[in-house]
Amino acid sequence: MRRFITRGAREELCAEIKAESCGMVIFGASGDLARRKLLPALFELFRRQLLPANFFILGGARTEMDDDAFRRSVRESLAEAGSDSELEEFSGFCHYIAGSYEQPVLYEALKSRLAELEAGCLTGGNRIYYLATPPVLYPVITEGLGRAGLTSDAAGGWSRVVVEKPFGRDLVSARELDRALLRYLTEQQIYRIDHYLGKETVQNIMILRFANTIFEPVWNRQYIDHVQITVAETLGVENRAGYYDQTGALRDMFQNHMLEMLSLVAMEPPASFDGDRHRDEKVKLLRAIRPYSPWDMDQFLVRGQYAQNSDKNLPAYRQEPGIKSDSTTETYAAMQVMVDNWRWRGVPFYLRSGKRLARKVSEIAIAFKPVPHSMFAGLMPENLLSNVLVLAIQPEEGIALSMETKRPGPHMCMSSLNLQFSYRDVFGERSGNAYERLLLDCMAGDQTLFVRRDGAEVAWNVLDPILQQWQEETGSLCFYPAGAAGPEQAEALLAKDGRAWRPLGDR
Ligand SMILES: NC(=O)c1ccc[n+]([C@@H]2O[C@H](COP(=O)([O-])OP(=O)(O)OC[C@H]3O[C@@H](n4cnc5c(N)ncnc54)[C@H](OP(=O)(O)O)[C@@H]3O)[C@@H](O)[C@H]2O)c1
Repeated sequence: MRRFITRGAREELCAEIKAESCGMVIFGASGDLARRKLLPALFELFRRQLLPANFFILGGARTEMDDDAFRRSVRESLAEAGSDSELEEFSGFCHYIAGSYEQPVLYEALKSRLAELEAGCLTGGNRIYYLATPPVLYPVITEGLGRAGLTSDAAGGWSRVVVEKPFGRDLVSARELDRALLRYLTEQQIYRIDHYLGKETVQNIMILRFANTIFEPVWNRQYIDHVQITVAETLGVENRAGYYDQTGALRDMFQNHMLEMLSLVAMEPPASFDGDRHRDEKVKLLRAIRPYSPWDMDQFLVRGQYAQNSDKNLPAYRQEPGIKSDSTTETYAAMQVMVDNWRWRGVPFYLRSGKRLARKVSEIAIAFKPVPHSMFAGLMPENLLSNVLVLAIQPEEGIALSMETKRPGPHMCMSSLNLQFSYRDVFGERSGNAYERLLLDCMAGDQTLFVRRDGAEVAWNVLDPILQQWQEETGSLCFYPAGAAGPEQAEALLAKDGRAWRPLGDR
């Protein structure tokens, strides 16, 4: 349970997050996620003195290395992030154990290595196991840990397991994964991580909505016309072809980040910022999403793939290394979501996400209704631009509210302006890597920002019928030039309702 305290001269209200002494075992320590996200996040927590005093990292993978070689690789990968002395001190926390996770003998070796490190580092038997491996290994590792007696809390300390997305490929496999995890763990030990929930602006949705009174009265079907949620990337499939071609935009982005953001924007106020109260409301919201029926799906969904753009010298998805030349995997998806409850009935939520788009941007735009009556002769209510509240998530983090104002001068001229707040300008601080916050929460035993089992399942429940239909009916795939704003069909999705996407760049 989080407790808010006042801090500093400005009396900021801060939630106390107290990381408990622990050892963190990183399965897949030689991989991309560990190198690019986890170790930098842990290093930054170390620099900010937020790691517990009694702490160690035990990395593992098949690659043969001893502690010294692992420490060297850690220092090399973090070379830009700190001074030599900081890197030296941080790498002192790091240890390594080589082996294949399919081999039961590894878990016995892990057990004795942990006992040795825990005796030296006084971490009280508290362990975090971070699964940064290919997802097929999640059940294998959990079983190995369970059989070796490494997951029970009985030894005096606690054990927590962090599971990376994807949480299955569909509802059936998600349930299978849950069953496999729950054979050796309780739900309270499982931390399903969606790093979007660690982003400053995503967390700020809750502060904005529930720590201010001015938004809640207008946060409903009476005042909100529609909501747009966009996660656009300029990059293509990069070096993740094997993973991405099996996955696609719907599984990669919608099952987790997109539906998580939708639920935060639309959920009812939780009674407390407590793990389960908060997640109860998110799940309730996802359950209220109107199911798609096979015959009207095309009206509400767009499935796209990037095609070659010779002008911009960008290849087609099907020309990327490692991608089949007839792949039907979607690199873009857009959907209209209707939430059938008292607050949102009739308000469309338009979601879009894709690769190789014109601009990198993640944002949530809440478009308000036009004024009900115009007192300005000659102007109809719809001539006046409606207010739009934009929660910018990346690359810039901030909030903007557009509104109509009078231009200075003797004439009665109107123009739109933006009330804008940027995290960087106001707080002057870089926003941390989202993993920093989530790792800290895990060390503190706070599951609020992690995905609960029923949350992951209900998200699959929304997407499963779409995935099935798309698998059977490949004809619905449309193409957009790499580097453009997306497929024309996505424009039509909003145009049929007399609306338009917020511009993403030139088409
Ligand atoms: N990379 C990202 O940005 C990102 C973002 C979100 C989620 N994820 C998820 O995070 C997980 C890891 O992703 P990644 O990109 O880091 O993958 P990766 O670069 O392929 O790394 C996989 C790691 O697992 C180890 N490994 C694989 N098979 C093993 C085995 N049988 N026994 C022991 N170690 C084994 C590999 O090391 P060795 O080859 O040395 O054994 C490597 O350290 C995946 O589930 C992915 O979906 C990744």
